[in-house]
Amino acid sequence: MTELQGFVVRKADPKDIPQIMRINLETLPENYPEYFFRDIYDRYAKAFYVVETQGKVIGYIMCRMEGGISNFGLRWMRRGHIVSVAVLPDFRRQGLATELIKQSMKAMEKDYNAKEIILEVRMTNIPAIQLYEKLGFHKIRILRSYYRNGEDAQLMAIKLQ
Ligand code: ACO
Ligand code: ZN
Repeated sequence: MTELQGFVVRKADPKDIPQIMRINLETLPENYPEYFFRDIYDRYAKAFYVVETQGKVIGYIMCRMEGGISNFGLRWMRRGHIVSVAVLPDFRRQGLATELIKQSMKAMEKDYNAKEIILEVRMTNIPAIQLYEKLGFHKIRILRSYYRNGEDAQLMAIKLQ
């Protein structure tokens, strides 16, 4: 648990899922049924974080693990995948997404043995791309028509030591 000026970043709890789903609906076009959130929680709870203030959840990050060929050299490895991260509009630009991502990345490395972390982001989502670049992620390649509306995704990745 980390405290930053009235905000607390902590591990998610199953009781947080309704609030997480509301934030997801309000902030992102990729929405999921409740079982999707529960399934990720059941499998990768250690990398599932929320940020709250005054008892209200205002941001979350959820991740999963997968195997694949490294984006940084030809070998098979375990990697973490940031599935979804969001902070409510009133609470942005205070470093909260940065903190959520850092905590979750640390957990993926330490608890799930991730060697790199990947994510997809809309090419037009400049705030998120800047955030990931600031954290050291690299643009790997474009995934054409990745989203349901035909938009392209930027695949980004970072290698862990
Ligand atoms: N414009 C430009 N750069 C930005 C912006 C912005 N609007 N927002 C963040 N950044 C960059 C800046 O470099 C910022 O550092 P600075 O404030 O010192 O300049 C840095 O990212 C860190 O920002 P944080 O304060 O940590 O990010 P925040 O808590 O505001 O959350 C987020 C960023 C998650 C992208 C938020 O805007 C959001 O919830 N957006 C809607 C949901 C979304 O797009 N999620 C990501 C989708 S991709 C995926 O989930 C895998
Ligand atoms: Zn993804």
